[in-house]
Amino acid sequence: MVIIEPFRIKAVEPIQFTTREERKAALRAAGFNVFMLRAKDVLIDLLTDSGTGAMSAAQWGALMQGDESYAGSRSFERFESVVRDLTGFRHIIPTHQGRAAERILFHSALQPGDVVLNNIHFDTTRANIEYEGAEARDLVIAEGRQPSVVHPFKGNMDLAALENALKTDGDRISMVMVTVTNNSGGGQPVSLENIRGIRALCDRYRKPFFIDACRFAENAWFIREREASQKGRSPKAIAQEMFSLADGALMSAKKDGLANIGGFLALNDDALAQKCRNLLILTEGFPTYGGLAGYDLEAIATGLEEVVDPDYLRYRIRTIEYLAEKLVAAGIPVVQPPGGHAVYIDASAWLPHVPAGEFPGVSVVNALYLEGGIRSCEIGSVMFGEKAAMELVRLAIPRRLYTQSHMDYVAEVAGKIDSHALRGYALTYAPVVLRHFTARFEMKKKVAEPARM
Ligand code: F0G
Repeated sequence: MVIIEPFRIKAVEPIQFTTREERKAALRAAGFNVFMLRAKDVLIDLLTDSGTGAMSAAQWGALMQGDESYAGSRSFERFESVVRDLTGFRHIIPTHQGRAAERILFHSALQPGDVVLNNIHFDTTRANIEYEGAEARDLVIAEGRQPSVVHPFKGNMDLAALENALKTDGDRISMVMVTVTNNSGGGQPVSLENIRGIRALCDRYRKPFFIDACRFAENAWFIREREASQKGRSPKAIAQEMFSLADGALMSAKKDGLANIGGFLALNDDALAQKCRNLLILTEGFPTYGGLAGYDLEAIATGLEEVVDPDYLRYRIRTIEYLAEKLVAAGIPVVQPPGGHAVYIDASAWLPHVPAGEFPGVSVVNALYLEGGIRSCEIGSVMFGEKAAMELVRLAIPRRLYTQSHMDYVAEVAGKIDSHALRGYALTYAPVVLRHFTARFEMKKKVAEPARM
């Protein structure tokens, strides 16, 4: 049976069609960086799944319940109780989004020269760690860096490498993190067994362990489907166990919070929580709103309750798999198996004639826009520079926003691209940090020589 969208649509928002000529001009004006396009020039926006989803009727209803009291608002109490029920952590600190939680945690916990270990740090996570003069080190299993290798939990941490780092660099390592799902490695899940293994090593070496929990519910669904001992267990119970193994979590509620803005930092360490709250007051706001409106706290609380619904997660994960199947049928190489929130095209496999230094991901991103007004995101050498593990293009699917026919259209557009004709790009401007957001490019004059390794 086809797995249908488990909702009906109460409000619609028109999307805008453009001509190829209009898209060509828009792309040129944007410096060939789709981050610089006007959203109204985009037909299907797969730039990110962050804050772009559709809220439910219950969430819109909850907005009206928002208590905007500066201190001690009822909406905070509801938010705190929902987050605590899910995560079990003692201190629940709201923030305006995930990166604010990162900045506050890292500024409070890290010293210059420290090391943070993770499966793969997301770009803002890495940038916030490096901003403190610390090192962000990625320890994902080897399979996690090989796009075509199928493995049920490609987001797993390499536990031998983790133990080795804890042994040799023990003094410098100030915390261990794991990102669920592993966004930068293809939205790949981390198994419960692996999280238990990380916990055991952190206990042995006395290190705090934090979960970057943006997509915890999608991760929980994969655990239920792929981990033999977890078959049929409720996603919420699995998520609760994941959190119970950690000392704290950072969350962007713009993903599995099903909200358009928001995040939180949750932790057990009283002294660290105090330090974080002090910093929060300095830049985000009072600890019972953390840069959010009372109605945002309500929307997130309701979103966190909705996101663990098995019917929703079954449809969610199937959507990604469905699009991946269609792309593969059109001869386009994608990261296998498909992840939880996005399909990742393997740009270096699709464009073997464009070397990493000429940004094959940018070529694919720009071709998708020109061909059909689809906006996607390079996750490769532009985003990570020389530290890029792979040259990927992410088609991130906003939650509950697009229908199956939108996905059919995306696959059709991708299938029409003549990959052999695509050329590489050169940077004409690049800021020092997080350069993918505002970099500008020009197209290479002619097809480059194949890379010599
Ligand atoms: N951690 C991970 C794994 C993320 O994917 C993101 C954001 C963040 C932290 C930061 O959260 O945006 O609320 O400040 N990822 C978005 C994306 C931007 O497109 O993948 P934020």
